[in-house]
Amino acid sequence: MEGETDVIAKMANMASVLHETFGFWWTGFYRVAGEELILGPFQGPVACMHIPYAKGVCGTAWARKESVVVPDVEQFPGHIACSSASRSEIVVPVFGPDGVVAAVLDIDSDRLATFDEEDRTWLERIVRYL
Ligand code: SME
Repeated sequence: MEGETDVIAKMANMASVLHETFGFWWTGFYRVAGEELILGPFQGPVACMHIPYAKGVCGTAWARKESVVVPDVEQFPGHIACSSASRSEIVVPVFGPDGVVAAVLDIDSDRLATFDEEDRTWLERIVRYL
């Protein structure tokens, strides 16, 4: 990341390193664009391209301005199923220099309860490199 100023390039390599290192089902970013999130750099299967504010896990993390850990996606009201293989999920907001949410990092696992507070802590630290 050092010396790189292009946020898309950084998101792309961050998605890759997380995905390849941990073998997640889907790892990627959605960027804030007006009243919705739009699909950004990711690794994994094809995903939904638009998510409205406050909808799904991603829109909820954006609206709450905080990370959301979902041990079982079937228990999360309004979860958006891009893939039926996804069983658990974590979404971490990415803040711009102005303190406003600029994007979210979304990671899906094909196993239940993959993510915990430790993942949340470290992913929140990692996205600050963007
Ligand atoms: N499950 C997400 C949608 C994005 S896909 O998982 C890649 C959600 O509920 O916001």
